[in-house]
Amino acid sequence: MPIQIIRNDITKLNCDAIVNAANSSLLGGGGVDGAIHRAAGPELLEACRKLGGCPTGEARITKGYRLPGKYVIHTVGPVWQGGGRGERELLVSCYRESLRLALEYQCETVAFPLISSGVYGYPKDQALKVAVDTIGEFLLEHELFVYLVIFDRASYTIGEKLFADIRSYIDDRYVELHGDTGRSRSPWEETSSLPPLSSAPFLEEPVVPGEFEEASFDRREPLPAACPAKSSPDAAGKERTAFGKSGLDDALAQIDESFSQMLLRKIDEKGMTDAQCYKRANMDRKLFSKIRGNVWYKPKKQTAVAFAITLELSLEETKELLMKAGFALSHSSKFDIIIEYFIENGNYNVFEINEALFAFDQSLLGA
Ligand code: APR
Repeated sequence: MPIQIIRNDITKLNCDAIVNAANSSLLGGGGVDGAIHRAAGPELLEACRKLGGCPTGEARITKGYRLPGKYVIHTVGPVWQGGGRGERELLVSCYRESLRLALEYQCETVAFPLISSGVYGYPKDQALKVAVDTIGEFLLEHELFVYLVIFDRASYTIGEKLFADIRSYIDDRYVELHGDTGRSRSPWEETSSLPPLSSAPFLEEPVVPGEFEEASFDRREPLPAACPAKSSPDAAGKERTAFGKSGLDDALAQIDESFSQMLLRKIDEKGMTDAQCYKRANMDRKLFSKIRGNVWYKPKKQTAVAFAITLELSLEETKELLMKAGFALSHSSKFDIIIEYFIENGNYNVFEINEALFAFDQSLLGA
């Protein structure tokens, strides 16, 4: 999953580079700037002195010194002045310039705070949208893993209207399912605490070990013939089969298109390349090649849903694709209801959906 929104203290993250929301002097300050300098030690300030400052919208790089990561990328966000002074363009530039430096220094993982959303007063939901959109756009063209680090819950708002819309959408469906318990329980009573803060490395999508041979297949070839089922002769010595008259062989011979085959067929139908598909699905290339190389591949539910969203499948097609991976969309799951909300509203933006899932304490789309 090339971009993850996590809640953590950026100074604790063991990434190749962490980004500092600095001021133009680069000589330290409060907020995340102060935290990074405290954690990195005095050598960081010495190194910054030599840089001679940094204009708003640009970025500079130093070593990380006592921080877990190799580098600190210092960027200077715009001070919010109402939105009419080019603040958005400057903020976009902060993310782009920092990402450019990260690539230049061969970083594979980078962590960003929500630049300008603290002391500099940039409205948090707009700051989040700029961050997610700019990073997401960059990742369509480049291989990098990015953490967007939300330090405190207050920094994380997805916009009141969207939040209220989703909340009532969930309430309508969730209660209907749970109404028959004699007490219409809102899902909010059960809200568990936020998912554990994770700075864990990106999880590989587990291929079911040993269960299927690594099958390479051409998506236009019919499924490999199922292995002939063993049947045992009954007392009269006749072949007795497990599946009534037609037998297991016939049943298996009618096996449906697999998840992988339907996915690859849909990519073709949409005229997309594999790379366009997995990047928009917030997936990495390694995972996709596993899916492509194994006709029996079993994805996680979030992965299957991410592909359905990327391919902009209708609700029915989404349910069909999920069913091929052994899943269903259920009204007893807030995650599923939120996915249904976005599909019903024709919004297939993976990053916006992840913002909403995060705001409702649900796991995110992707690997
Ligand atoms: N880890 C991750 N994020 C953090 C941390 C931390 N340890 N500490 C603060 N943040 C978050 C804040 O919650 C906010 O969402 O970083 C975001 C940016 O807030 P600021 O640090 O205030 O940065 P900014 O709004 O860009 O203002 C920059 O503040 O600290 C001074 O020297 C800095 O003058 C500069 C100005």
